[in-house]
Amino acid sequence: MKTMEVLIELKNVKTYYFIPKGLFKTIAVRAVDGVSLTVHRGETVAIVGESGSGKTTLGKTAVRLLEPIAGKIIFEGKDITHLKGDMLWFRRKAQMIFQDPFTSLNPYMTIRQILEEPLIIHKIGDPSEREEIIAKALTEVKLSPPEEFLSKYPHMLSGGQRQKVGIARALVLRPDFIVADEPVSMIDASSRAEILYLLRNIQREYKMGIMYITHDIATTKYFSDNIAVMYLGKIVEFGPTSKVLKNPLHPYTRALMEAVPDPDPSNRFKERKVIPGEPPSPINPPSGCRFHPRCPYATERCKKEEPKFVEVEPDHYVACYLYE
Ligand SMILES: Nc1ncnc2c1ncn2[C@@H]1O[C@H](COP(=O)(O)OP(=O)(O)OP(=O)(O)O)[C@@H](O)[C@H]1O
Ligand code: SF4
Ligand SMILES: [Mg+2]
Repeated sequence: MKTMEVLIELKNVKTYYFIPKGLFKTIAVRAVDGVSLTVHRGETVAIVGESGSGKTTLGKTAVRLLEPIAGKIIFEGKDITHLKGDMLWFRRKAQMIFQDPFTSLNPYMTIRQILEEPLIIHKIGDPSEREEIIAKALTEVKLSPPEEFLSKYPHMLSGGQRQKVGIARALVLRPDFIVADEPVSMIDASSRAEILYLLRNIQREYKMGIMYITHDIATTKYFSDNIAVMYLGKIVEFGPTSKVLKNPLHPYTRALMEAVPDPDPSNRFKERKVIPGEPPSPINPPSGCRFHPRCPYATERCKKEEPKFVEVEPDHYVACYLYE
């Protein structure tokens, strides 16, 4: 893994939302609060965490739909942290697939128009070349024969088919990097495996880097090379998928896995349950280890000092005092 080519590198990135309070004040929502992460070419990194942990904000920051307030983003060796007017080249290389296939496609456009729009914006091909690219993308996502879909509108398709159109729209530009934000969570269970399998195959064929965002740690098993576990704006555990799933280290990762029915009984953590409850708000995160109010192993030190990352086994890192 270490010899692979780095595609995108996030260095201590912070992305906050500022909500107005009264006339002159604003409150900072620290959605992403110091994340460092690398995605290599041809690799899928899963971002796992419960609702509100900052996954979507991180994904949007990585494709620069949001601008971070601190840190650096390096894409193919170029600093894109504060890219503004000269963004078109990056837009072509980095695409996002959204969670909701029902709202992410323009209902007034045909599938042909939806897929042709990015090609026109990026001045790619003449009309007949574009037709070819569109037909190929539809075939790749198994919407074939393409002619059957070209003049349809999104409402004429099933949820799974719409999400395939969303993937085809990302693919027509031949991106190097895709952020797939919960791409299967809103479609019926029967199409989920097919869509993840399809994305995986396309990724391998074109050697793309993928950031796969999910709250369902079980789906990472077949779809990702590495897992980054996110809690309240920070990554608390990182490592190869097989190692993290087999030997989850952070109490929070274990809690996430407990929520998933696991056919392998040796993977159960029965000793102590993590304190249940809603995650605290990113407006005023707890000091020290952010997980301490819910952690059954928390000590006085956990409340004061933030634990640093330690490498517990090769390439497998955790930020928790249990592993010092
Ligand atoms: N536009 C916004 N303005 C203010 N706060 C926001 C905005 N978008 C997100 N947040 C807040 O930032 C935090 C992180 O949100 P984010 O959507 O990144 O989490 P997530 O991990 O993707 O959650 P989910 O699994 O529910 O999609 C949450 O507390 C959320 O309420
Ligand atoms: S550092 Fe302390 S509070 Fe945080 S996860 Fe580890 S034991 Fe729990
Ligand atoms: Mg989200």
